[in-house]
Amino acid sequence: MTVLITGGAGFIGSNFIYYFLKKYPDYKILCVDSLTYAGNLSTLEQAMKNKNFRFFKTDICDRSEIYKIFENEKPDIVVNFAAESHVDRSIENPEIFLKTNIFGTQVMMDACRKYGITRYHQVSTDEVYGDLPIDRPDLFFTEETPIHTSSPYSSSKAAADLLVQSYHRTYGLPATISRCSNNYGPYHFPEKLIPLMIINALNNKPLPVYGKGLNIRDWLYVEDHCKAIDLIIHKGKSGEVYNIGGHNEMKNIDIVKLICKYLGKPESLITFVADRKGHDMRYAIDPTKIRNQLGWIPETKFSDGIKKTIEWYINNEKWWYPIISGEYKNYYEKMYSNR
Ligand code: NAD
Ligand code: DAU
Repeated sequence: MTVLITGGAGFIGSNFIYYFLKKYPDYKILCVDSLTYAGNLSTLEQAMKNKNFRFFKTDICDRSEIYKIFENEKPDIVVNFAAESHVDRSIENPEIFLKTNIFGTQVMMDACRKYGITRYHQVSTDEVYGDLPIDRPDLFFTEETPIHTSSPYSSSKAAADLLVQSYHRTYGLPATISRCSNNYGPYHFPEKLIPLMIINALNNKPLPVYGKGLNIRDWLYVEDHCKAIDLIIHKGKSGEVYNIGGHNEMKNIDIVKLICKYLGKPESLITFVADRKGHDMRYAIDPTKIRNQLGWIPETKFSDGIKKTIEWYINNEKWWYPIISGEYKNYYEKMYSNR
């Protein structure tokens, strides 16, 4: 079995590669990643030592290079993680989001049609459903919730989802889609809430909370996401959408306070800054379908997962220090100074 994973030098894709190399020692694992600012080859250092793993520095929008890889490697399963993934960047510059997230998805699916695969899996997001009101804790996103996006990022992901569904219906492409809530864990890029707060707190820097910090996200440990995708690609039904989430809703401010407490840092580091434009209020996934149909349940409790994650950042400064010392400095300055 040959599994081609795009975006494997990023946060979730790399965790998925390590999960697969361990669980399926006989599978050949291919990673296609163009190494944007969010992709790090150092993340895949251990994978590179495995004889069943191969890395291709290739853009998913590069049709001829992608076709060459399919022609030579003949993957059975394709899991498309590659994307521009940060909402704040999409608000600054939507174009690259449309290119990678929509056109890139099309190129990958065209390659699948041309060379034949048993399953194409699109890694999507709960953000395609928009947001839920904070005063209606009884409401959750189900697979039937209408698509209703807020940011250029979520709109590009929703467009890709619709394209996948059209390829399934029109061309019979064997395809599945998963829509997961917010992930956290090792190798999470420092621009995102949890790693940003851990790293800033470790460096005694201000902790910039958007608005009043009352927005709610539904956090899932990254390995639980990987396990869900594993089940979907092996046992899920072609043409179906599966929501993934562990009923773990938390306000941003509570997460930041928890990080301060764990690291023994004062809450006076917390700085309330201007809100994100169009900021989604609450995400909350109903995972009934994947639980009932595929037997998926989240295994890592938030209290354990967040400790493991904070410890990982304490012990892996050699991973994040070069990131925050490079181009990221300019990004941070642009996004946070005078905010
Ligand atoms: P990430 O930003 O950490 O990683 C994205 C990876 O894709 C990077 O390695 C980058 O180099 C690569 N990439 C970007 N453009 C590319 C291109 N044109 N060609 C080839 N490679 C390219 O993202 P992530 O957080 O790991 O998210 C992975 C996927 O999961 C995305 O599709 C995202 O929409 C989805 N998702 C993320 C979350 C989350 O909480 N992080 C939750 C649900 C769904
Ligand atoms: O829900 C799934 C989505 O989760 C994925 O599709 C996205 O790829 C992923 O980036 C994530 O999107 P969010 O916008 O929810 O994640 P982010 O870490 O950027 O922000 C989480 C919350 O924290 C959000 O309400 C904004 C807030 N925030 C974020 C940053 C970076 C702050 O208050 N301060 C910050 O500095």
